[in-house]
Amino acid sequence: MAEYKTIRFRLNGRPVELAVQPHENLVEALRRGFQMYSVRESCGQGLCGCCTVYVNGKAVSGCLYLAALVDGCDVQTVEGLGTLQQLSPVQEAFIECEGFQCGFCTPGMIMMATQLLQENPNPTDEEIKHYMSGNLCRCAAYPEIIAAVHRAAEKLRASKETDAAADKAATVAG
Ligand code: FES
Ligand code: FES
Repeated sequence: MAEYKTIRFRLNGRPVELAVQPHENLVEALRRGFQMYSVRESCGQGLCGCCTVYVNGKAVSGCLYLAALVDGCDVQTVEGLGTLQQLSPVQEAFIECEGFQCGFCTPGMIMMATQLLQENPNPTDEEIKHYMSGNLCRCAAYPEIIAAVHRAAEKLRASKETDAAADKAATVAG
């Protein structure tokens, strides 16, 4: 009989628990336990990036990550980046720039692009290609994806400037 272990972790900011088998990977657990269907397994070998999620804030390949290892961790999927009412700037930019065709690779692309922009707010084309080289798109929507990352970078820089201006105004007023 299959052996199960109950793990507890935070999924998109909310505490959850799930009984998992020792061999179950994170993609299978997130889809089976929480209907996180954005997380997709394609190659199953860590080569395509479709299964990218964050564990403790860092992107990992969910197909190679044992679910049991996220016990006590913070896990984030693309569902946790924004809401239907308020998409994240990267999600908005992918829509505005048509950064997908079939959309199969899109959640993983958005996760990697978000992490890239946290580390490098103003990347060049070459830096985007290098950083996201582990995310494959079978539809070859790469020009639109690169445009989307630049658009998202602009949005994030603009929102930081707005926040800084608001902080300055509050300081002056206070
Ligand atoms: S399905 Fe995990 S990298 Fe391809
Ligand atoms: S949009 Fe089709 S695989 Fe990327």
